[in-house]
Amino acid sequence: MDINIYRRVRDRKALLVALKETWALHAYFPDAKRPMLVYELFFDMALLASCWVDVAVVDGQPVGLLAGVLKHHQPVACRLYNFLASIAFYTKFAFILLTHQLGKPRFVLHQLREVYSLEAMCKLHKDPHDAQIELFYLHPKARGHGAGRALMKNFVAYAKTHRARSIALWTDISCSYTFYDNYGFSRDASFFSPILAEPEKGQDNGFVYTLKIEDKE
Ligand SMILES: CC(C)(COP(=O)(O)OP(=O)(O)OC[C@H]1O[C@@H](n2cnc3c(N)ncnc32)[C@H](O)[C@@H]1OP(=O)(O)O)[C@@H](O)C(=O)NCCC(=O)NCCS
Repeated sequence: MDINIYRRVRDRKALLVALKETWALHAYFPDAKRPMLVYELFFDMALLASCWVDVAVVDGQPVGLLAGVLKHHQPVACRLYNFLASIAFYTKFAFILLTHQLGKPRFVLHQLREVYSLEAMCKLHKDPHDAQIELFYLHPKARGHGAGRALMKNFVAYAKTHRARSIALWTDISCSYTFYDNYGFSRDASFFSPILAEPEKGQDNGFVYTLKIEDKE
């Protein structure tokens, strides 16, 4: 496998397909007119919160990415771009909502409230850390060949260059969270959220992982 990392989103469509193969997000909006719309919105929203996006290209095909942000290093160009992109995103989202493209607006808003309360809970755990990962995935066919480690290594090096001391992220039991254990992250918190995958009885289904940057090369 020929693995390359690019600092730019290329072939958004291929990245959306990889996202769809990773998480069944459309299940949260069963009445969406186009399931792919859910992935487009999720993808764009994660990128709005990021100033670092590395795309993994395997055998010439974009297969996934790592998107993240450093609290104390957000270049003006990135802030401006994300600000303008946010205006475009929320305008588009309002149109989608009002035209019932995701289903009944009341149901959509209910689902979004659940997502926001999950994000808010995770934010409390992630906030003390000065680097955060917003999105990290690879197409199932591209996994297990080192592309994930290469993406993570690049982000850790970038965070280290800008003097970030720790990286945080949240994940859940439907994800390959053991990747983080393997990489050297530690599990800082676990929680239960009704919108995540059903856990074993009484167990948590979400985790916050952190990595101390001094611990890595
Ligand atoms: C997480 C993910 C990006 C890792 O990418 P990857 O290319 O498969 O990982 P790599 O091949 O670089 O593996 C790096 C190391 O992690 C380990 N690893 C990777 N996935 C693992 C898994 N699911 N369980 C246990 N260990 C895993 C590998 O054995 C490897 O260890 P080594 O370097 O000591 O040999 C990928 O598995 C994925 O997209 N998973 C689904 C989405 C997801 O869970 N995203 C992250 C959580 S939000």
